[in-house]
Amino acid sequence: MTAKNLDGKTLAEEIRREVATGVAEIQKKHGVTPGLAAVLVGDDPASAIYVRNKRRACDEVGMISDTFLLAADATHEEVLNLVARLNDDPQFHGILVQLPLPPQVDELAIIESLNPNKDVDGLHPFNVGKLVQGRADFIPGTPFGIQQILIRNGYDPASSNVVVCGRSDIVGKPLALLLMQRADGANATVTVCHTRTKNMAEITSQADILVAAIGSPNIITADMVKEGAIVIDVGINRVDDASRKRGYRLVGDVNYEAVSKKAAAITPVPGGIGPMTIAMLLVNTLTATRLSIHGNGS
Ligand code: GUN
Repeated sequence: MTAKNLDGKTLAEEIRREVATGVAEIQKKHGVTPGLAAVLVGDDPASAIYVRNKRRACDEVGMISDTFLLAADATHEEVLNLVARLNDDPQFHGILVQLPLPPQVDELAIIESLNPNKDVDGLHPFNVGKLVQGRADFIPGTPFGIQQILIRNGYDPASSNVVVCGRSDIVGKPLALLLMQRADGANATVTVCHTRTKNMAEITSQADILVAAIGSPNIITADMVKEGAIVIDVGINRVDDASRKRGYRLVGDVNYEAVSKKAAAITPVPGGIGPMTIAMLLVNTLTATRLSIHGNGS
C-alpha cells in the first residue's frame, strides 16, 4: 500500500480563505477588525519562526497582528504586566504567549493570567475545563488542526481506535479529550501512550488512527503501524544535514519513507500539521472576536 499524502498546506490555505471571509463580514457588519497579539520572550530561533509565520498568516486574512518582544532575562512580573496590558487592550481579541517561556517565568501562572476570552491557544484552565465538558470555545490549534485534517479528508474518527503518543498539555491531552467526546468528528476510542508506557509498539499497532506527538525524529517505525492506518505526524525535529544551506532539515516523529508504504494516509513534515495549527489559531482569533461582540462564538 502507498499512503495518500494528507496535504495540510493546501487545506490550511482553504481554511485561511474561510477565515478571510469571516474577517471581512465582521468588518462590514460591526466595523471591527480581529486582532491577535503574540508575546515572544527571548530569542529561541524556532519560536521566532513560529511567531513570524503566525503574523504573516494574520496579515494574509486581514487581521491586525502585533508581536510583543521581551528579552530572554525578562522577569515573571514583566511578562505578567505585558499580559495584563494586552488583556485590557480592545484592539487585541486574541493573545498568544509563545511557549516555552524561560525558566524564571512561571508558565502556568502566565497562562492563568490570560483573559480566558482572549486565550486563543485554549490553554487557560477555564478553557481546558470547557474542553473536558465538550463545550470548548477554543480548541488548541494543533488538536483542532488534526481533527480538521481527518474530517475534511473523509476520515471520521467515530468508533476508531485512536492512539496518541505524547501527553503534553498543548497536543496529547487536549487531542485525547477532543476525539473522545460525544460529538460529530469525535466519538473515538482513545488510548494515550507516553514515556512510561509498556510495550508501546503493541498498542500503536492496534491504531486505526495513530498520532505521533513525541518530539523524537523518526521514532515511529513501520513495525509499529497497522496496515492501512491513518498516521498523523505532529513532530517537527531539526536534524543535521550538511547538504542543506542552513545545515539542517526538518523531519517528523514518523519514519515517513517506511511508514508511507504501510499506512493508508499520512501527513508529511513539513507541510502537514504545522500549517494547520496556524490556520486554526486564526479560526480561534475569529471566534474570540465574535465572543467580544456577541458574548458567544457564533
Ligand atoms: N510552541 C509550540 N507550539 C505552540 C503553540 O501552538 N502555541 C504556543 N503558544 N506556543 C507553542
